[in-house]
Amino acid sequence: MPREEHQGLVSGASSSGTDGTSKSTKTNHLRGLICWGIFAAFLIFFIIMAAVYTDPKRYKEAEPEDYLGEEDRVLYNGLGQVYFTPSSPKLNAMAQFQLGLQLMHLFWYDLAIQKFQQARAMDPNFAMAYWGEAMCYKQPLWQTEDLASAQAVLAQLKKSQALRYASDREQQYVAAAQTLFAANVSLQDRETQYAVQMRILWDDNQDDPDACALAALAVLGKLQSVGNYAASNAATLAQIAENILDDCVYFFPNHAGAYHYQAHMYDVAVDDWHLTGTPSTGLAASVKLAKLAPKSNVAQHMASHFYVRTGNWSQAALSNQAAVAASDSYCNAVEQGNACDADNRWHALEWQLFSQTQQCGAKAAYTSYTRMQAVAKSMNYTGDYGQWLYRSYAHMQLQSLNSLGIIPLRNATDNTTEMLPPPLYNTGGIENAVDIADHFWPPHAEAHALLARVYALTFERNVSQLSAPGVRSTVAAALARLDLIVATQTSLVANSSANADAASANADMLALLTTVQLQAKAVVGASECAAKLSSCNTTSWMALMDQALMLHKNVSRSTTLPSLKIAPTPEFYGRLLDATGGNSTLAKQLFMQCLDELPGRMQCLLGLARSTIKLNDLPSATSIYSKLQTQCALGDKTFPALLEARSRTASPPPPAKKGLLRRSLREQAVAATA
Ligand SMILES: *[C@@H]1O[C@H](CO)[C@@H](O)[C@H](O)[C@H]1NC(C)=O
Ligand SMILES: *[C@@H]1O[C@H](CO)[C@@H](O)[C@H](O)[C@H]1NC(C)=O
Ligand SMILES: *[C@@H]1O[C@H](CO)[C@@H](O)[C@H](O)[C@H]1NC(C)=O
Ligand SMILES: *[C@@H]1O[C@H](CO)[C@@H](O)[C@H](O)[C@H]1NC(C)=O
Ligand SMILES: *[C@@H]1O[C@H](CO)[C@@H](O)[C@H](O)[C@H]1NC(C)=O
Ligand SMILES: *[C@@H]1O[C@H](CO)[C@@H](O)[C@H](O)[C@H]1NC(C)=O
Ligand SMILES: *[C@@H]1O[C@H](CO)[C@@H](O)[C@H](O)[C@H]1NC(C)=O
Ligand SMILES: *[C@@H]1O[C@H](CO)[C@@H](O)[C@H](O)[C@H]1NC(C)=O
Ligand SMILES: *[C@@H]1O[C@H](CO)[C@@H](O)[C@H](O)[C@H]1NC(C)=O
Ligand SMILES: *[C@@H]1O[C@H](CO)[C@@H](O)[C@H](O)[C@H]1NC(C)=O
Repeated sequence: MPREEHQGLVSGASSSGTDGTSKSTKTNHLRGLICWGIFAAFLIFFIIMAAVYTDPKRYKEAEPEDYLGEEDRVLYNGLGQVYFTPSSPKLNAMAQFQLGLQLMHLFWYDLAIQKFQQARAMDPNFAMAYWGEAMCYKQPLWQTEDLASAQAVLAQLKKSQALRYASDREQQYVAAAQTLFAANVSLQDRETQYAVQMRILWDDNQDDPDACALAALAVLGKLQSVGNYAASNAATLAQIAENILDDCVYFFPNHAGAYHYQAHMYDVAVDDWHLTGTPSTGLAASVKLAKLAPKSNVAQHMASHFYVRTGNWSQAALSNQAAVAASDSYCNAVEQGNACDADNRWHALEWQLFSQTQQCGAKAAYTSYTRMQAVAKSMNYTGDYGQWLYRSYAHMQLQSLNSLGIIPLRNATDNTTEMLPPPLYNTGGIENAVDIADHFWPPHAEAHALLARVYALTFERNVSQLSAPGVRSTVAAALARLDLIVATQTSLVANSSANADAASANADMLALLTTVQLQAKAVVGASECAAKLSSCNTTSWMALMDQALMLHKNVSRSTTLPSLKIAPTPEFYGRLLDATGGNSTLAKQLFMQCLDELPGRMQCLLGLARSTIKLNDLPSATSIYSKLQTQCALGDKTFPALLEARSRTASPPPPAKKGLLRRSLREQAVAATA
């Protein structure tokens, strides 16, 4: 509004009562005055609001979180303390950045990338927003990176003016990222130089918790690198990471990232690394993390890594239930669909499902499974969705004692005998042997689904079931597909011989895939023996399992991750011996080995109890069955393993009262006549 008009209005109002103007004019004047006043108030309000949004610095009382939408504000306050104050003058961009950084520390990468991009859109001169997005393209503990995307963001940063506005510390962060994503430098050199730079950054900025946490993560990243180059000085590196993390949590006790990385640190082969902390230090860090960051899936999930190690399945299930719920809560509110927080959400659902199978909770596990199935279907079984589904299917089949009958893999028609798991893995078109994301997990998931399918069609099936139409040909097709997967992996190991790192990672996976292939053949043979078919050849299937057991030694023992322990060889071998009435001494040894490697495995407890009975050690069997009963206290009341355990632990029936009474009456009569 023009300034003169405004002034005239004000002076007119002040003179109106004294210059004898009519009442109606006065009232009109007054009404006009009020209208204009309201209009002016709104105008001033809008001018202030506009100023706040374009230059939030002018609005001193505002906090960064005031610039976030409702759901984002909930996250901002539910992911641990925000420490980093970047040098962007715009509070709205700052808020997006800070939320992005919190999310990045909790491996919620997809959303973090969105937040860093929004921060950059709000303030194109915000160097740390570019930095954050680039850093999200490296997922050190997931062993993945998207180098091209990271380089593209850093190239845009270089083209922009943003670095001129960055503080010295921020320039150090950016320089470290440029090192991590340098073109034409080996993975080992990139990761090593990055860790050096982050260490210097932390030394130079002792009040910066993010520098502390990221310096430690850089070292953990080297230890767990796809490049696998750190084996010779792993203990030294691990001790460095431990020291940094001890500092981080001591000085910055509300930093979620520090606790998150500390938990990961103790979730590995700590014995070999001579660390001060132990897995229980990791559990304590996880519990603290879960409290600090109630809105993060990962923060809720982390403790289950430690509960799984000790077979504390009820806690593992609860932790993953909370993790899935944390993702659901945000994802449903923002209506982002099944892709929202997918990496964490469906990973936790797989773990929840597995923990449920270990408590004999077949129905609960099946509920998790049907959700996984619907999710995978909605995403057309692409990418990781197919893998989550296939692994869940394998967990269900191999742990359920067939108590659920046939479990459909993809849709209701897939449970017909002829149906094989449709291929997940393109055995023809492998281009880059170092790309673990593409060549590690898809064959692994598909191979286990094939094994589970063969198992479902043969294990504990009788003669007529084994000879039902389609069984033989389906089994043969599954075995042929497994042969192809193993052959491809063998060729991959040979082709990657020039790259020692890739060859070693590929060889590990080859060992695992080969055990799956051998076990699938063995279950077919053992089932023929169990069904007393004339084709039974015990020597033959046992030779396959002996071979698998040799290879099992080469499959990493240090991990208890459910996704990697779908069909552990000692458990599988022991169960085939049990089903065929084989050597109980050997079966008992195998189940004990299984429980030593994977405490609380439900099938191994059951198998151990059974083989102990066959070896006539009833008291031991009873105590093992009791343990199983406790573990399955919340499971399905009619789950076969639980029924079996209950029947074995039931105390002997009390002596019949009538008989006792009659005897005592007879004794009294005898006494009376005496
Ligand atoms: C990396 O190497 C490729 C092929 O040798 C070359 O074309 C490219 O320019 C190099 N990039 C950089 C940034 O040096
Ligand atoms: C599982 O963990 C919880 C929480 O730490 C503990 O209270 C419970 O005793 C544990 N249960 C078993 C069977 O170890
Ligand atoms: C799945 O496939 C259908 C049909 O081809 C398509 O319409 C849909 O967009 C796809 N969904 C996803 C998530 O790719
Ligand atoms: C079930 O899956 C199979 C193979 O993926 C497909 O051919 C079939 O059309 C599907 N059926 C339904 C009802 O979705
Ligand atoms: C396959 O699953 C559907 C739906 O669960 C069920 O109705 C059908 O009986 C099953 N068929 C077989 C052969 O198990
Ligand atoms: C095989 O098992 C099925 C399902 O339990 C049963 O219906 C059938 O009678 C059994 N056949 C033989 C020959 O035992
Ligand atoms: C290995 O290399 C050979 C020869 O170049 C090629 O034919 C084959 O497809 C490669 N194998 C894999 C799994 O990439
Ligand atoms: C059983 O299999 C073994 C090889 O594993 C073979 O040497 C042996 O001849 C077979 N026995 C029979 C009776 O076919
Ligand atoms: C296990 O790995 C070692 C070292 O890589 C190798 O020499 C050995 O042959 C492997 N064992 C089996 C059974 O493949
Ligand atoms: C059963 O297995 C045990 C342990 O492996 C072995 O010592 C024993 O000789 C086996 N017994 C028979 C009859 O094969």
